[in-house]
Amino acid sequence: MANRFSAMFTRGGDTSASPPAATRVAEPPNAPSRDEALALVRSFPYWYQRIYLGNGVYTIDQPAYHEGVWHHLEPSIPSNLLGASVLDVGTNAGYFALQMKARQAGRVVGLEALDDYLRQAELCRRMWNADIQYLPIDAHQVSSLTEEFDVVVFTGILYHLKNPLQVLEDVGRICRDAIVVETEVLVDHPDTRVHVRQGPTNQTKVTACTRGIMKFIERDELNGDGSNWWVPDTECVLGMLRTAGFKYFSAPCYLTESRLLLLASKASQSTLNLQALR
Ligand SMILES: C[S@@+](CC[C@H](N)C(=O)[O-])C[C@H]1O[C@@H](n2cnc3c(N)ncnc32)[C@H](O)[C@@H]1O
Repeated sequence: MANRFSAMFTRGGDTSASPPAATRVAEPPNAPSRDEALALVRSFPYWYQRIYLGNGVYTIDQPAYHEGVWHHLEPSIPSNLLGASVLDVGTNAGYFALQMKARQAGRVVGLEALDDYLRQAELCRRMWNADIQYLPIDAHQVSSLTEEFDVVVFTGILYHLKNPLQVLEDVGRICRDAIVVETEVLVDHPDTRVHVRQGPTNQTKVTACTRGIMKFIERDELNGDGSNWWVPDTECVLGMLRTAGFKYFSAPCYLTESRLLLLASKASQSTLNLQALR
Protein backbone atom coordinates (compact mmCIF):
# COMPACT_ATOMS: atom_id res chain seq x y z
CA MET A 1 0.00 0.00 0.00
CA ALA A 2 2.76 2.41 0.91
CA ASN A 3 4.57 1.98 -2.40
CA ARG A 4 1.34 2.36 -4.31
CA PHE A 5 0.57 5.70 -2.68
CA SER A 6 4.16 6.88 -2.86
CA ALA A 7 4.34 6.12 -6.54
CA MET A 8 1.16 8.02 -7.14
CA PHE A 9 2.60 11.10 -5.51
CA THR A 10 6.28 10.81 -6.50
CA ARG A 11 7.54 13.94 -8.16
CA GLY A 12 10.82 15.21 -9.59
CA GLY A 13 13.13 17.91 -8.24
CA ASP A 14 12.19 21.57 -8.40
CA THR A 15 12.72 24.19 -5.71
CA SER A 16 9.92 26.58 -6.62
CA ALA A 17 6.52 26.69 -4.92
CA SER A 18 4.99 25.30 -8.10
CA PRO A 19 5.06 21.53 -8.20
CA PRO A 20 7.13 19.82 -10.84
CA ALA A 21 5.56 17.42 -13.31
CA ALA A 22 4.72 13.99 -11.98
CA THR A 23 7.36 11.39 -12.74
CA ARG A 24 5.28 8.26 -12.33
CA VAL A 25 1.75 7.55 -11.38
CA ALA A 26 0.20 4.46 -9.81
CA GLU A 27 -3.44 3.55 -10.21
CA PRO A 28 -5.75 3.70 -7.18
CA PRO A 29 -6.85 0.15 -6.25
CA ASN A 30 -10.52 1.15 -6.44
CA ALA A 31 -10.28 3.41 -9.47
CA PRO A 32 -13.61 3.90 -11.23
CA SER A 33 -13.77 3.91 -15.00
CA ARG A 34 -12.51 7.08 -16.68
CA ASP A 35 -16.06 8.20 -17.48
CA GLU A 36 -17.23 7.55 -13.91
CA ALA A 37 -14.23 9.44 -12.49
CA LEU A 38 -14.87 12.41 -14.78
CA ALA A 39 -18.54 12.44 -13.75
CA LEU A 40 -17.56 12.34 -10.07
CA VAL A 41 -15.17 15.25 -10.53
CA ARG A 42 -17.87 17.24 -12.34
CA SER A 43 -20.45 16.45 -9.67
CA PHE A 44 -18.70 19.00 -7.40
CA PRO A 45 -18.79 22.70 -8.20
CA TYR A 46 -15.20 23.17 -7.03
CA TRP A 47 -12.09 21.20 -6.09
CA TYR A 48 -9.20 22.84 -4.22
CA GLN A 49 -6.85 19.86 -4.09
CA ARG A 50 -5.47 17.90 -7.02
CA ILE A 51 -5.73 14.18 -6.39
CA TYR A 52 -5.32 11.34 -8.86
CA LEU A 53 -8.45 9.22 -9.37
CA GLY A 54 -7.05 6.76 -11.90
CA ASN A 55 -7.27 6.28 -15.67
CA GLY A 56 -5.59 9.63 -16.26
CA VAL A 57 -8.23 11.60 -14.32
CA TYR A 58 -7.26 14.20 -11.70
CA THR A 59 -9.65 16.21 -9.60
CA ILE A 60 -8.02 19.31 -11.14
CA ASP A 61 -6.19 19.43 -14.46
CA GLN A 62 -3.45 21.89 -13.49
CA PRO A 63 -0.80 21.42 -10.76
CA ALA A 64 -2.07 22.88 -7.48
CA TYR A 65 -0.43 24.89 -4.71
CA HIS A 66 -0.54 22.12 -2.10
CA GLU A 67 1.59 19.90 -4.34
CA GLY A 68 4.32 22.54 -4.10
CA VAL A 69 3.91 22.51 -0.31
CA TRP A 70 4.35 18.73 -0.33
CA HIS A 71 7.41 19.01 -2.57
CA HIS A 72 9.12 21.21 0.04
CA LEU A 73 7.85 19.18 2.97
CA GLU A 74 8.56 15.68 1.67
CA PRO A 75 12.26 15.49 2.68
CA SER A 76 11.23 16.13 6.30
CA ILE A 77 8.74 13.26 6.42
CA PRO A 78 10.31 9.84 6.93
CA SER A 79 9.40 7.34 4.23
CA ASN A 80 8.21 5.11 7.07
CA LEU A 81 6.29 6.88 9.81
CA LEU A 82 6.24 3.58 11.73
CA GLY A 83 2.60 3.87 12.66
CA ALA A 84 2.77 7.42 13.99
CA SER A 85 -0.69 8.92 14.34
CA VAL A 86 -1.54 12.02 12.32
CA LEU A 87 -4.22 14.71 12.62
CA ASP A 88 -4.82 16.80 9.47
CA VAL A 89 -6.70 20.00 10.41
CA GLY A 90 -8.63 21.50 7.48
CA THR A 91 -7.98 18.35 5.47
CA ASN A 92 -9.96 19.44 2.39
CA ALA A 93 -10.02 16.45 -0.02
CA GLY A 94 -7.43 14.68 2.13
CA TYR A 95 -4.25 15.11 0.08
CA PHE A 96 -1.93 15.38 3.10
CA ALA A 97 -3.81 12.66 5.00
CA LEU A 98 -3.29 10.34 2.00
CA GLN A 99 0.38 11.29 1.81
CA MET A 100 0.89 10.48 5.49
CA LYS A 101 -0.94 7.18 5.12
CA ALA A 102 1.28 6.43 2.14
CA ARG A 103 4.23 6.75 4.51
CA GLN A 104 2.88 4.17 6.89
CA ALA A 105 1.23 6.49 9.36
CA GLY A 106 -0.99 4.60 11.79
CA ARG A 107 -4.23 6.27 12.74
CA VAL A 108 -4.94 9.23 10.46
CA VAL A 109 -7.80 11.63 11.16
CA GLY A 110 -8.81 14.57 8.99
CA LEU A 111 -10.95 17.44 10.29
CA GLU A 112 -12.94 19.52 7.83
CA ALA A 113 -15.66 22.14 8.29
CA LEU A 114 -17.27 21.99 4.83
CA ASP A 115 -19.53 19.12 3.72
CA ASP A 116 -18.48 19.17 0.06
CA TYR A 117 -14.80 18.83 0.97
CA LEU A 118 -15.62 16.01 3.39
CA ARG A 119 -17.46 14.20 0.61
CA GLN A 120 -14.50 14.73 -1.71
CA ALA A 121 -12.12 13.40 0.95
CA GLU A 122 -14.26 10.32 1.50
CA LEU A 123 -14.51 9.69 -2.23
CA CYS A 124 -10.71 9.90 -2.70
CA ARG A 125 -10.14 7.82 0.42
CA ARG A 126 -12.31 5.02 -0.91
CA MET A 127 -10.58 5.04 -4.29
CA TRP A 128 -7.19 4.78 -2.59
CA ASN A 129 -8.51 2.24 -0.09
CA ALA A 130 -6.92 4.27 2.70
CA ASP A 131 -7.78 3.77 6.35
CA ILE A 132 -8.41 7.42 7.24
CA GLN A 133 -11.22 8.83 9.36
CA TYR A 134 -12.69 12.16 8.30
CA LEU A 135 -14.67 14.09 10.88
CA PRO A 136 -16.98 17.09 10.39
CA ILE A 137 -15.33 19.02 13.19
CA ASP A 138 -14.45 22.70 13.09
CA ALA A 139 -10.86 23.47 14.07
CA HIS A 140 -12.20 25.59 16.93
CA GLN A 141 -13.64 22.37 18.38
CA VAL A 142 -10.32 20.47 18.41
CA SER A 143 -10.58 20.32 22.20
CA SER A 144 -13.56 17.97 21.77
CA LEU A 145 -11.15 15.27 20.51
CA THR A 146 -10.29 12.83 23.25
CA GLU A 147 -7.16 11.33 21.68
CA GLU A 148 -3.59 12.47 21.09
CA PHE A 149 -1.65 12.47 17.82
CA ASP A 150 2.07 12.26 17.12
CA VAL A 151 1.98 14.66 14.18
CA VAL A 152 -0.44 17.44 13.30
CA VAL A 153 -0.71 18.81 9.76
CA PHE A 154 -1.83 22.43 9.94
CA THR A 155 -1.45 23.64 6.37
CA GLY A 156 -3.51 26.41 4.82
CA ILE A 157 -5.68 26.74 7.92
CA LEU A 158 -4.18 29.26 10.39
CA TYR A 159 -5.37 32.37 8.55
CA HIS A 160 -8.87 30.89 8.24
CA LEU A 161 -9.33 30.87 12.01
CA LYS A 162 -11.08 33.54 14.04
CA ASN A 163 -9.18 32.42 17.13
CA PRO A 164 -5.85 31.06 15.89
CA LEU A 165 -4.03 31.07 19.23
CA GLN A 166 -6.87 29.23 20.95
CA VAL A 167 -6.84 26.56 18.25
CA LEU A 168 -3.03 26.25 18.31
CA GLU A 169 -3.09 25.84 22.08
CA ASP A 170 -5.81 23.18 21.77
CA VAL A 171 -3.76 21.44 19.07
CA GLY A 172 -0.65 21.72 21.24
CA ARG A 173 -2.44 19.87 24.05
CA ILE A 174 -3.20 16.84 21.87
CA CYS A 175 0.00 16.84 19.77
CA ARG A 176 2.66 14.55 21.23
CA ASP A 177 5.50 15.42 18.87
CA ALA A 178 5.43 17.77 15.89
CA ILE A 179 3.33 20.11 13.79
CA VAL A 180 3.57 21.12 10.14
CA VAL A 181 2.42 24.72 9.66
CA GLU A 182 1.89 26.35 6.30
CA THR A 183 0.29 29.76 6.26
CA GLU A 184 -0.11 33.16 4.71
CA VAL A 185 2.22 35.60 6.51
CA LEU A 186 2.96 39.29 6.51
CA VAL A 187 5.88 40.07 4.23
CA ASP A 188 8.98 41.03 6.18
CA HIS A 189 9.56 44.65 5.16
CA PRO A 190 11.93 47.24 6.60
CA ASP A 191 9.09 49.82 6.74
CA THR A 192 6.91 47.64 8.98
CA ARG A 193 6.39 49.28 12.35
CA VAL A 194 3.72 49.40 14.99
CA HIS A 195 4.10 51.69 17.99
CA VAL A 196 2.99 50.05 21.17
CA ARG A 197 3.37 50.61 24.91
CA GLN A 198 5.79 48.08 26.36
CA GLY A 199 8.07 47.61 29.33
CA PRO A 200 7.95 46.50 32.95
CA THR A 201 5.35 47.84 35.38
CA ASN A 202 5.63 51.62 35.86
CA GLN A 203 8.35 51.86 33.22
CA THR A 204 6.34 51.34 30.06
CA LYS A 205 6.92 53.48 27.05
CA VAL A 206 5.68 53.53 23.51
CA THR A 207 8.21 51.63 21.44
CA ALA A 208 8.42 50.81 17.74
CA CYS A 209 7.98 47.10 17.02
CA THR A 210 8.86 45.54 13.70
CA ARG A 211 7.94 41.92 14.40
CA GLY A 212 5.48 39.79 16.33
CA ILE A 213 2.45 41.28 14.56
CA MET A 214 -0.85 39.90 13.21
CA LYS A 215 -3.14 41.78 10.81
CA PHE A 216 -6.91 41.42 11.21
CA ILE A 217 -8.87 40.82 7.99
CA GLU A 218 -12.34 42.12 8.69
CA ARG A 219 -14.06 41.31 5.40
CA ASP A 220 -12.78 39.72 2.17
CA GLU A 221 -9.71 41.89 1.60
CA LEU A 222 -7.50 38.83 1.21
CA ASN A 223 -8.26 37.03 -2.03
CA GLY A 224 -11.94 38.05 -1.97
CA ASP A 225 -12.39 35.31 0.63
CA GLY A 226 -14.49 36.19 3.67
CA SER A 227 -13.19 33.09 5.47
CA ASN A 228 -9.75 34.67 5.97
CA TRP A 229 -9.39 36.35 9.37
CA TRP A 230 -5.77 36.91 10.38
CA VAL A 231 -2.37 37.25 8.74
CA PRO A 232 0.48 36.89 11.25
CA ASP A 233 4.14 37.57 10.59
CA THR A 234 6.66 34.78 10.99
CA GLU A 235 7.68 35.89 14.50
CA CYS A 236 4.02 35.86 15.55
CA VAL A 237 3.62 32.30 14.20
CA LEU A 238 6.73 31.23 16.14
CA GLY A 239 5.46 32.96 19.29
CA MET A 240 2.02 31.32 19.07
CA LEU A 241 3.64 27.92 18.54
CA ARG A 242 5.90 28.46 21.57
CA THR A 243 2.81 29.44 23.58
CA ALA A 244 1.17 26.22 22.38
CA GLY A 245 4.07 24.15 23.75
CA PHE A 246 6.39 23.72 20.77
CA LYS A 247 10.07 24.33 21.46
CA TYR A 248 12.13 23.35 18.41
CA PHE A 249 11.71 24.86 14.96
CA SER A 250 12.87 24.30 11.41
CA ALA A 251 14.28 27.22 9.49
CA PRO A 252 11.35 29.08 7.94
CA CYS A 253 10.77 28.07 4.32
CA TYR A 254 9.05 30.68 2.13
CA LEU A 255 7.12 29.17 -0.74
CA THR A 256 6.28 32.67 -1.98
CA GLU A 257 7.07 35.99 -0.33
CA SER A 258 3.91 35.68 1.78
CA ARG A 259 3.63 31.90 2.34
CA LEU A 260 5.53 30.27 5.16
CA LEU A 261 6.17 26.56 5.71
CA LEU A 262 7.52 25.68 9.13
CA LEU A 263 7.97 22.59 11.28
CA ALA A 264 7.89 22.67 15.07
CA SER A 265 8.37 19.94 17.64
CA LYS A 266 8.10 19.57 21.38
CA ALA A 267 11.34 17.64 21.85
CA SER A 268 14.73 17.85 20.13
CA GLN A 269 14.24 14.34 18.74
CA SER A 270 11.19 14.32 16.47
CA THR A 271 9.51 11.98 14.03
CA LEU A 272 9.92 14.76 11.48
CA ASN A 273 13.33 15.90 10.25
CA LEU A 274 13.26 19.60 11.02
CA GLN A 275 16.66 20.14 9.38
CA ALA A 276 15.53 18.72 6.05
CA LEU A 277 12.92 21.34 5.22
CA ARG A 278 14.04 23.01 2.01
C1 LIG B 1 -6.76 26.69 2.00
S1 LIG B 1 -7.57 25.16 2.29
C2 LIG B 1 -6.16 24.15 2.77
C3 LIG B 1 -6.46 22.69 2.64
C4 LIG B 1 -5.30 21.78 3.02
N1 LIG B 1 -5.04 21.81 4.44
C5 LIG B 1 -4.08 22.13 2.23
O1 LIG B 1 -3.10 22.62 2.81
O2 LIG B 1 -4.10 21.92 1.02
C6 LIG B 1 -8.38 25.41 3.86
C7 LIG B 1 -9.19 24.23 4.27
O3 LIG B 1 -9.53 24.37 5.65
C8 LIG B 1 -10.92 24.24 5.80
N2 LIG B 1 -11.31 25.08 6.94
C9 LIG B 1 -11.39 26.42 6.99
N3 LIG B 1 -11.75 26.84 8.20
C10 LIG B 1 -11.92 25.72 8.95
C11 LIG B 1 -12.28 25.48 10.30
N4 LIG B 1 -12.58 26.49 11.11
N5 LIG B 1 -12.34 24.21 10.73
C12 LIG B 1 -12.05 23.18 9.91
N6 LIG B 1 -11.70 23.34 8.61
C13 LIG B 1 -11.63 24.59 8.14
C14 LIG B 1 -11.50 24.71 4.49
O4 LIG B 1 -12.83 24.23 4.29
C15 LIG B 1 -10.51 24.12 3.52
O5 LIG B 1 -10.75 22.79 3.23
